[in-house]
Amino acid sequence: MDFSHYWAARQKKVDAALNRYLPPATTKPKTIHKAMRYSIFAGGKRLRPVICLATAEVLRGPVDEALPLACAVECIHTYSLIHDDLPCMDNDDFRRGKPTSHKVFGEGMAVLAGDALLTIAFEMAASCKSWPRYSHADIIREIAVAAGSQALIAGQVADAEGEGKKISPAELRYIHLNKTAALITTSIRLGAMSANATPAQMKNLTEFGQSLGLAFQVIDDILDVTQTTEKLGKSAGKDLKAQKATYPALLGLEKAKKEADKLTARALAALKPFGKNAEPLKAIADYLLSREN
Ligand code: IPE
Ligand code: IPE
Ligand code: MG
Ligand code: MG
Ligand code: MG
Repeated sequence: MDFSHYWAARQKKVDAALNRYLPPATTKPKTIHKAMRYSIFAGGKRLRPVICLATAEVLRGPVDEALPLACAVECIHTYSLIHDDLPCMDNDDFRRGKPTSHKVFGEGMAVLAGDALLTIAFEMAASCKSWPRYSHADIIREIAVAAGSQALIAGQVADAEGEGKKISPAELRYIHLNKTAALITTSIRLGAMSANATPAQMKNLTEFGQSLGLAFQVIDDILDVTQTTEKLGKSAGKDLKAQKATYPALLGLEKAKKEADKLTARALAALKPFGKNAEPLKAIADYLLSREN
C-alpha cells in the first residue's frame, strides 16, 4: 500500500468536506468565521478524521457517510487545541506552523472560535445517517461523552493540576487516556458505527483506539523533547519548562520510547480478527510510531 498517497487522498477528502460544512469566511460576523477557518485550515495532520474514514473502510462501510462524523471530530480536536494554547492554559504562540489563534485574533475571539468549533461539530454530526445498530442518539452521545468532563476535559484538568507535581504512572496514564486517547478512540468508534459494526468488532476497535491513542500522546511527549519547533509546527521543549507530567519526564526518553512501542504492538494485536482488511489501520499505527511531527 502506498501510504503517503493513501493519507493525502483522505486528507483532501476531509479538507473539502470541512470547507463545505464551515460557513464561508465572509459570513457575518466575519471575524468568528475567519478565526474558525484559520485554525481548521492551518495545516493539521487530520489523524482523527482519517482514522475515522479508515475504520469505516476496514469494515467495508460506505466511507462517504462517515464524513460528517470525521469532520465533527476534527472540529472538536481543533477547538481543544485553540483553548489548550491560550495564555491561561499552555500559553503557546505557535500551532500548526502558524501563530496561535489568540495571537492573531485576540484572546476573546480565540475562546469564541473554540466554542463555535465545538458547537458546529454537533451540527455536522447531526447530518449523518443512523444505522441499524446505532441510532442518531448513540452517535451524538458518543461525541458528547468523548469531549466532556469525564474524558477530554478530565484529561485537560488533570494535566493542568499535574503541572509541577510528581505524579504516579497511573495518574499519567489517566491524563493521556482522557486528554488524547478518548477522542482518538471515538474517531475510530464513529467510523465503526457508520459501518454498522457488530458488538465484537466494536470491542476490538475500541481496544485498538485506546492503545493507539495512548501511544500517540506518549509520542507527542517524546517529540516535544526531541524535535525542533520548525519540524513540529508548535513550540518544542515546552513541557519541561511548564513542568508537565509526561512519559519522558517520568521514565526517561528510552523507556518512554519502549512504552510507545509496547502500546503500538498492543494496538496492532487488537486488529488481528480483521485479518488483511485491517491494512489501512495497521499502516496508520506504524506511521504514528515513526512520525516526526
Ligand atoms: C496534538 O494533536 C495535540 C495532542 C492531542 C497530542 P495532533 O498532533 O494530532 O495535532 P494536529 O491536528 O496535527 O495539529
Ligand atoms: C493537548 O495536549 C491535548 C488536548 C488539546 C486535548 P498537549 O498540550 O500535550 O498538546 P500540544 O503539545 O500542545 O499539541
Ligand atoms: Mg496541554
Ligand atoms: Mg499544549
Ligand atoms: Mg504535547
